[in-house]
Amino acid sequence: MVSHGILTMAYIAAFIMFILSLSGLSRQETSRRGNYFGMAGMFVAVLTTVLGSSVHGQIAYEILVVALLIGGFIGSRLAKRVTMTQMPELVAMMHSLVGLAAVLVGYTNFIEGGSGLIGVEKTIHVMEIYIGVFIGAVTFSGSIIAFGKLCGRITGKPVLMPARHWFNLLLLIGTIYLGYRFLGDIAAGYGLIPLGIMTGIALIFGVHMVMAIGGADMPVVVSMLNSYSGWAAAATGFMLSNDLLIVTGALVGSSGAILSYIMCRAMNRHFLSVIAGGFGTTSGGNSAEVVGEVNPIEAEEAAQLLRDAKNIVIIPGYGMAVAQAQHTVNDITRLLLKMGKKVRFAIHPVAGRMPGHMNVLLAEAKVPYDIVFEMDEVNEDFPNVDVSIVIGANDIVNPSALEDPHSPIAGMPVLECWKSGTTIVLKRSMASGYAGVGNPLFVQENTRMLFGDADDRLQALLKALQG
Ligand code: TAP
Repeated sequence: MVSHGILTMAYIAAFIMFILSLSGLSRQETSRRGNYFGMAGMFVAVLTTVLGSSVHGQIAYEILVVALLIGGFIGSRLAKRVTMTQMPELVAMMHSLVGLAAVLVGYTNFIEGGSGLIGVEKTIHVMEIYIGVFIGAVTFSGSIIAFGKLCGRITGKPVLMPARHWFNLLLLIGTIYLGYRFLGDIAAGYGLIPLGIMTGIALIFGVHMVMAIGGADMPVVVSMLNSYSGWAAAATGFMLSNDLLIVTGALVGSSGAILSYIMCRAMNRHFLSVIAGGFGTTSGGNSAEVVGEVNPIEAEEAAQLLRDAKNIVIIPGYGMAVAQAQHTVNDITRLLLKMGKKVRFAIHPVAGRMPGHMNVLLAEAKVPYDIVFEMDEVNEDFPNVDVSIVIGANDIVNPSALEDPHSPIAGMPVLECWKSGTTIVLKRSMASGYAGVGNPLFVQENTRMLFGDADDRLQALLKALQG
């Protein structure tokens, strides 16, 4: 068993590694290192906690080893099996487990009865349990619904109850009242009934909050639940009096909150209305139907357009991830650079299905970092661009976000590729994207549709460029 001094030092080392991990993850060039720091920090944290004074007795160790083996087996199997496009669902599932853990730890603490605490300390401990269970239950049910929405098992359309804000307010008042009852009852040796009813309310609140969110606003939900799961972990840390868990939870909670804020800004949504839940649904209307003539193109003609172009912008979207076309995209990029063209990538903050989705794919394919730009860095330059290539993207290049106030994605900034000389769009059909909104870009005069699987069509394009 490790001494208290060693445990504290190991925890400090783990904090530092987690902070280094987060700072590493903020840039593509250092993200691999960031991951290693995170893994090392977690290894130190788990090892010292297991060897610390809070675990005693052979049975406890036996249970821990069995739990670690089962958890490790399931986790590694899942991580191996999951594809890049399923990552957001996996992350949502993980968030739900953090929430569930907070609820279970809360109930265990409640049953243990605060082991000898009295006075203010007992009151604080009881409040920790109550708040921890609340955050955990909201995170758990919200993440399960997010999982269903992300994998398409639950409708992506916002499900809006009449007077839903009043309903939320009622749930909040009920939670505060039950908290007051819980404090009183626990002093008399009870408390399970208010705690149980509040858990039910929190579960309903999580479901209601995420159900009310429309498809295009899911990125904000993913980052919000990420933040909630951090706060749930911090609450668990308070209940278990574990400083490392408190700090780690706070790191995840605050970085998730910052990410949510960045997402909100990127999508032109209000952060405070996000926190209140049921956000991004104000426009909720149906956008106008898309009418016009579609101009298809074949790979050879597209290759000629690229040969004639000097300034090219590539816009990847979710379809590139589905088709796993990033390696062919990289081959084409390198060929175009060799031909003396100016080639840049324009990345929309919510392209794909998780924050940084496109950056991860491009990094995996070894696309040079210095030609990958954020939306704001490229948007104003589109009038100077000869050819934009849209690879499996839809919502992020939809002009109706700017032009149609009734569109469900109205107000969301988009990549204004239609301002370039020609836009080549690679997709399989005229189907809409995640938000379920028609896209007038596909019928613009200077848009050419290269229909088919993105990787297949890009391979043909590469061949034509080489030929
Ligand atoms: P989407 O709007 O979802 O459009 C993707 C397009 O890819 C589809 O229209 C689809 O058209 C095409 N596609 C699918 N498979 C393909 C394949 N094998 N080959 C070629 N094309 C293929 O994607 P986006 O433009 O990247 O926008 C992202 C959307 O997801 C936004 O609405 C965003 O709010 C939402 N979202 C984002 C996140 C995060 S954090 N990034 C999280 C959740 C939701 P076809 O079927 O015709 O091929």
